[in-house]
Amino acid sequence: MNEVQIIGTGSYVPAQIITNDHLSTIVETNDEWISSRTGIKERRISKGETTSALASGAAKKALEDAGISPETIDLIIVATMTPDYFMPSTACLVQKEIKAYNATCFDLSAACSGFLYALNTGYQFIRSGQSNTALIIGADTYSKILDWSDRSTCVLFGDGAGAVVLQKCENKGIIAMYTGSDGRGDTLLTCPAVAHNSPFSPAIDAPKSVVSMDGKEVFRFATTIVPKCIEEVLKSSSYTTEDIKYYVLHQANARMMDLISKKMNIDIEKFYKNIERYGNTSAASIPIALDEINQNGILKKGDLFILVGFGGGLTWGSALLQWHK
Ligand code: ACO
Repeated sequence: MNEVQIIGTGSYVPAQIITNDHLSTIVETNDEWISSRTGIKERRISKGETTSALASGAAKKALEDAGISPETIDLIIVATMTPDYFMPSTACLVQKEIKAYNATCFDLSAACSGFLYALNTGYQFIRSGQSNTALIIGADTYSKILDWSDRSTCVLFGDGAGAVVLQKCENKGIIAMYTGSDGRGDTLLTCPAVAHNSPFSPAIDAPKSVVSMDGKEVFRFATTIVPKCIEEVLKSSSYTTEDIKYYVLHQANARMMDLISKKMNIDIEKFYKNIERYGNTSAASIPIALDEINQNGILKKGDLFILVGFGGGLTWGSALLQWHK
């Protein structure tokens, strides 16, 4: 079997910054509530930039960081639940924009776990020999599917994209992966798609395509599943929590990270946090964080780190990796 390594990272967020104070002019909220409940201070909101534009921006930077040309890419997976179109896929739009004409392209839908699912899929393509160099992107533009009059959700999310380049190599960059789903939690986090609209089905009131969430239940789910995700990838290796330099969790809530660090007796300093600047960017949050870690030289050659995603579906996933860049 081939080994797989991350050889480049990139991220791209819209330039427009919306602070908590700014949001308090739109809905009845305030900086104190948002900061203390979530850790979020500001988020980036698209001024019309599409998900494929954000994804392409992140992809270009990841290729540059990897030092490879677009023709080298033979697989592009975009994890998103806010595509520009049902058809064509966001991945095909990225392919066109970055001129990666040798790639097979498709999107993957797993909400905030999307990046971990896509990473796992790219990993399996390379392990099997079907692919050599894969571009794995997490990109979302939640601002277009939020109910901006619902203060319990609209303050939580932001727009952005992150990408990694995976390549076949001799070093074991990806050590273990774990994913899971539970469709019985389907109502906890939802965003309806288009309704039936044909002469052959009864007329129905189309639900609005906006996000709704049972915040308390999702919080409970996340603080239970994240420790399991960490334990599962460690279980399939010889490492313990002590050996891990960094934990890069989906950035959904800073309080969640505090609770998990206490629950697992892991120093909170080991949890990478950038939620104060971006809010919850869904599939993009983990690769954006990873790109910051890479650009700031935080991980050194040989360091072990764990990624954990969780979200709507319900879905979850984790990866244990070793940094070789
Ligand atoms: N500003 C001010 N007050 C607010 C706001 C707001 N933006 N939102 C809600 N409130 C009020 C509520 O109306 C409620 O008031 P009441 O007591 O008078 O009824 C009060 O604040 C408390 O509301 P709760 O919902 O109980 O607040 P809680 O402490 O549970 O925090 C939060 C809410 C931050 C959403 C939390 O439940 C959470 O983080 N949940 C997990 C969310 C998450 O991780 N989502 C991402 C999942 S990943 C994906 O796939 C999208």
